[in-house]
Amino acid sequence: MKNVRAAVFASGSGTNFQAIIERTDLPCEISLLICDKPGAPVIEKAKHAGVSVLSFNPKHYRSKSEYEERLVDQLQAYEIDWIFLAGYMRLIGSTLLHTYEGRIINIHPSLLPKFPGLDAIGQALENKASVTGVTIHYVDEGMDTGPVIAQESISIYPNESRDSLTERIQNIEHELYPEVIKQLIKESKREVRG
Ligand code: GAR
Repeated sequence: MKNVRAAVFASGSGTNFQAIIERTDLPCEISLLICDKPGAPVIEKAKHAGVSVLSFNPKHYRSKSEYEERLVDQLQAYEIDWIFLAGYMRLIGSTLLHTYEGRIINIHPSLLPKFPGLDAIGQALENKASVTGVTIHYVDEGMDTGPVIAQESISIYPNESRDSLTERIQNIEHELYPEVIKQLIKESKREVRG
């Protein structure tokens, strides 16, 4: 059977991207990084690791569908089977969703449906939540919506700083995301084999 190939989509620092590519026991190859922020630090991480990078500026396209059609062309050229969003700060549109139905997943730093969207960690602190966490979910057309695959919760300490909470959330993300990817791909291979 052909190797399963995945692309990571990211916009920022790429600590989740790094955690994924460092996992040596994934049953898939991380073949491509797609970045929508030219100059984002994740690009250097990918180059350093020898992962192919395609950097796009969505503003250069007339519409979201035109931008995503271009992405789909490239994803197909790289024979990509799965897409993992890792800090990709842009809604996925119908062009990608139809092409990769059920094969796009996202990570978000809260216990969804709580605190979707930007700065979930800041939202949790501002709302004086006592518990937050990490969610991994299938992507649909909404903002951090879609069926949940896995969640892990942590208590927020009284008067905890943003830095401390961010570090503890990232530690969970960097373990949980590669593990969920591993289980999902293993499961999908079993389904293909029947
Ligand atoms: C991660 O915390 C991820 O969960 C979050 O962006 C961060 C990216 O960090 N994603 C979202 O908020 C999605 N709505 P990274 O670039 O260091 O991996």
